[in-house]
Amino acid sequence: MKLTLKIWRQKNAKDAGRFETYDLPDVNHHMSFLEMLDVLNEKLIKEGKDPVAFDSDCREGICGTCGFVIDGRPHGPLRATTVCQLHMRHFKDGDVIVCEPFRAKAFPVIRDLVVDRASFDKIIQAGGFISASAGSAPEANSILVPKPSQETAMDAAACIGCGACVASCPNAAAMLFAGAKIMHLGTLPQGQPERMDRAAKMVEEMDKQGFGYCTNAKECIDACPKEIPFEAIVRMNRDYIKATLARVERAGGGGPG
Ligand code: SF4
Ligand code: FES
Repeated sequence: MKLTLKIWRQKNAKDAGRFETYDLPDVNHHMSFLEMLDVLNEKLIKEGKDPVAFDSDCREGICGTCGFVIDGRPHGPLRATTVCQLHMRHFKDGDVIVCEPFRAKAFPVIRDLVVDRASFDKIIQAGGFISASAGSAPEANSILVPKPSQETAMDAAACIGCGACVASCPNAAAMLFAGAKIMHLGTLPQGQPERMDRAAKMVEEMDKQGFGYCTNAKECIDACPKEIPFEAIVRMNRDYIKATLARVERAGGGGPG
């Protein structure tokens, strides 16, 4: 099939950037979206032009590396699907497809469709972990995990850190991402000792990194390729409030009411 691509080209964070148009006359509908971009890049290289920069690694929806906006939607038109798992059979002959990077202050553009998501790493470093003694692995049954807790934790652990939630949010909030980590670790017995502290530190780091606040637009839920539920944000807010009240108490204040 014949496609026209309008792709955002930007040399670096300081460059103003602009859309450039490319025609691909013979796209195989079995190709993945990224393979289609590979074909475009081979063509551009042969013509002595700069290839389009985009991120990818696993190309099977598990690493979270890929991700840009296709026709106004992070990861493209298919629900619960990463860019790397999107195939050209979902487009039709003659389509004009617009590709641009995730737009958020906390995700500066590195080049073309590639953004810097180090701000997510900073949120994880602030509290997205459990502290455990190093050494030999503990006996598997020494800490029993109730099945409902295990299922909730695993659903939340499906987050691949792609950033589509931020890109889709009118406030560029990272609350679904941070909420997923807080729900994952905060549901397991091993995550309890640092639970409140974790929520407080991760929320504060989100602010520091320049992400916005959730105003219940819920665009993130539609954009998330791993279908992380809104409950993650609710749980995060609950733990954050508890952490704040505990801090007030420790400081000798009476707290609200
Ligand atoms: S919550 Fe969903 S959209 Fe956000 S980073 Fe995780 S997987 Fe990506
Ligand atoms: S390349 Fe790993 S999720 Fe897309």
